[in-house]
Amino acid sequence: MLTVRTHTSLDPDLLAEIARDQGTPTYVYDGRVLDAGVHRWVDAVGDPARICYAVKANYNLGVLSRLASHGIGFEASTIGEMARALAAGVSESRVVLGGVPKSSEAVEEGIRRDLDLVVLQASHEVEAAVRAGASRAGPPAKVGLRVRPGIRAGAHPSLETGRADAKFGFDPSEIRDAWMALAAADGLQPTTLAFHLGSGLDSLRPYEGAIDVLLHLVEDLTSTRAPVRELDLGGGLGVAYDEGEMDLEPADLVRIVEDRLAGTDLTVRYEPGRSIAAHAGTLVTRVLYRRERDGHPALICDGGFTDFGRFALYGAEHGIEPVTGELEGPATVEVLGPTCESGDKLGTGRRLHGVRPGDLLAVRDVGAYGFVMASNYNARPRPAEILVDDSGWRVVRVREALEDLWRGEIAG
Ligand code: LLP
Repeated sequence: MLTVRTHTSLDPDLLAEIARDQGTPTYVYDGRVLDAGVHRWVDAVGDPARICYAVKANYNLGVLSRLASHGIGFEASTIGEMARALAAGVSESRVVLGGVPKSSEAVEEGIRRDLDLVVLQASHEVEAAVRAGASRAGPPAKVGLRVRPGIRAGAHPSLETGRADAKFGFDPSEIRDAWMALAAADGLQPTTLAFHLGSGLDSLRPYEGAIDVLLHLVEDLTSTRAPVRELDLGGGLGVAYDEGEMDLEPADLVRIVEDRLAGTDLTVRYEPGRSIAAHAGTLVTRVLYRRERDGHPALICDGGFTDFGRFALYGAEHGIEPVTGELEGPATVEVLGPTCESGDKLGTGRRLHGVRPGDLLAVRDVGAYGFVMASNYNARPRPAEILVDDSGWRVVRVREALEDLWRGEIAG
């Protein structure tokens, strides 16, 4: 079942005030929408500790500490993401080092610390964990294995991760040996089988087959000295970016999971990123000028694909609206960025005919995979980030200065 999304309701006057004060392009996050994203998951799952927000979606420290105030966990796919979560005040015991390709050194660091879970997804990672476990002080480190269930998720090809030909995780036939190696190791306690099917799924059906793959493995491992205790189902729930689309609901996923797991005593962990953060973010950009190109009008803006790359990378159509004023149609314009590439677009076919140079545009639902994928290409300082709540707005990352562009470089 699908329900209407929880959208950011940022007031146009507030966006205009922020743009006046901080310049453009600028990311603006609505803290209340972040809260609503967490509540949707907590209402569905119950225990907040079983919801591990995927840090990669938006790792601004202000955003992370706001999310942490709800008592949820955090999934970090790198040591850098782990360090960000810790810097935001999250305790190690709330952090999962996730099942994304890692160096042996990263695995060893994960095992040395007192993390909630370390998910391993290749043989060299298992070997590194076994080595690090042997010299670990304190209670055994909880570890899991990521399975590649061989399921097509129906997402953009770049965002599918559970197919048989994906680079992530173990084939189901390899799990027993890897699990036994972990079970025999000192300082490790294998608890969890994990998958992540992909991101931006438009249906929950793929979870059904993938859970069944895990359940077969759970059964196969029942009689070992370390039976599986937990399933980690990754992230993946798609959200509405365009008119007519709907969010997938955590409650519907939980229903599927409870149905499949009835009669077992397995616990379940989720790693949502997009479905918590996407709707909370707006990118405010200013129109520099308008250009007629053989009857194809375009607005050239001060924000482009270096600031927000999802259209250029995946053809993702995010809503783009005038900050003040209404959409006008039916004729459409392209919305282009300022850099040196023709593919630098924020969107196409937009009903923005009334928009004039100097006007502000709001690119919607950019709270996930927005700023985190911004680059300095063309030596463009990255945007400011702002967090809004009931008491007003505050800067949670200052706009980069020109000197930031060459920090760490050595001339001559
Ligand atoms: N867990 C793991 C192991 C993941 O790799 C990911 C995302 C998640 C959880 C969170 O998935 P979500 O709930 O956000 O779908 N840059 C792309 C998205 C890449 C996501 C990669 N992994 C985009 O802009 O759409």
